[in-house]
Amino acid sequence: MNKRVVLASYPEGWVTESNFRVESAPLPKPGEGEVLVKNLWLSLDPYMRGRISQQKSYVKGVEIGEVMTGETAGEVVESKHPKFKPGDKVTAPSGWQLYWSGKGEMLTKVDASKVSLSFFLGCLGMPGRTAYFGMKDICTPRPGETVVVSAASGAVGSVVGQLAKAWGCRAVGIAGGKAKCDYVVKELGFDACVDYKAGNLFDNLKAACPKGVDACFENVGGEILDTVLRLMNLRGRITICGLISDYNAKEPYGVKMFRSILVNRLKVQGMIVFDWQERYPEANQALLQLVTSGKLKYRESVVEGIENAPKGLIGLLKGENFGKQLVRLA
Ligand SMILES: NC(=O)c1ccc[n+]([C@@H]2O[C@H](COP(=O)([O-])OP(=O)(O)OC[C@H]3O[C@@H](n4cnc5c(N)ncnc54)[C@H](OP(=O)(O)O)[C@@H]3O)[C@@H](O)[C@H]2O)c1
Repeated sequence: MNKRVVLASYPEGWVTESNFRVESAPLPKPGEGEVLVKNLWLSLDPYMRGRISQQKSYVKGVEIGEVMTGETAGEVVESKHPKFKPGDKVTAPSGWQLYWSGKGEMLTKVDASKVSLSFFLGCLGMPGRTAYFGMKDICTPRPGETVVVSAASGAVGSVVGQLAKAWGCRAVGIAGGKAKCDYVVKELGFDACVDYKAGNLFDNLKAACPKGVDACFENVGGEILDTVLRLMNLRGRITICGLISDYNAKEPYGVKMFRSILVNRLKVQGMIVFDWQERYPEANQALLQLVTSGKLKYRESVVEGIENAPKGLIGLLKGENFGKQLVRLA
């Protein structure tokens, strides 16, 4: 039997476990050109909050009763597609379920011989590619510049800061709590990390960025973005990657320091990683090289079992994760 999690109701404000329902269903049967995948890992990502909101977004949301959306990493168990055979490791747009069957063209074959399969949902997957293209093409960091990244210990932020270091910049993180900040500096090698929960964010960030901020990779928005705006240098660049502090808010915080964009002639650009789809191989190769050579460190937060996926998502949205949030399915 298959087991899956469907959307039971749309959340209002914070997501609760009662917004989801766990169901059993018969195993899907692959048709011609299709593949049956047994999922081993499920990725939990902040974008999922947007998929269960009724607001217009860049892709269609999940309907009530539908399987919750999400990417998985797993193993082919049956194939009616010439490019796949049982045992192949793949990532798939399965959603929150133990088995998935669909067109082979929707799968990505991965080589998990040198790294854990789960990495293809994190530093070697969508979050890693987001960090790579948002940095390279929008932040355009030059050696010696200061790069600030929020949610710095997370899946995207941890890669952003390590890329900044690899590309010769001063990397400054912003994260919630001492443990996360210590990890970012001592384990990941950032130059500094400011704990936004400790108060005095502006003064502490100013001290960590004595030459101001040339590039900001924004994952959080709200007060954090407003504070960074006050420290931006002339012709600085800001990648608007995520606004997680607003995802559960009934009213958006809004940006108060817009004036900094004008007086500093800042370039501020929103990004959705799909727009770089044709260049994914470039990021995949660069990130794999950094991971296998030990230059890019990475941490995971794991919840056990598909029935705990709702709890995992709620924790992620509250910042309880420490590193890339995953669900182990088998
Ligand atoms: N545009 C794209 O294509 C794209 C792709 C991937 C991800 N993203 C965005 O990138 C951001 C990071 O995603 P991720 O997958 O790497 O998640 P993550 O950083 O691993 O986890 C989310 C983190 O956000 C922080 N956070 C949550 N609520 C917060 C709040 N109110 N104020 C400040 N920080 C808060 C928490 O860290 P602390 O404990 O440090 O607060 C939490 O651990 C998200 O905004 C996501 O939507 C965008």
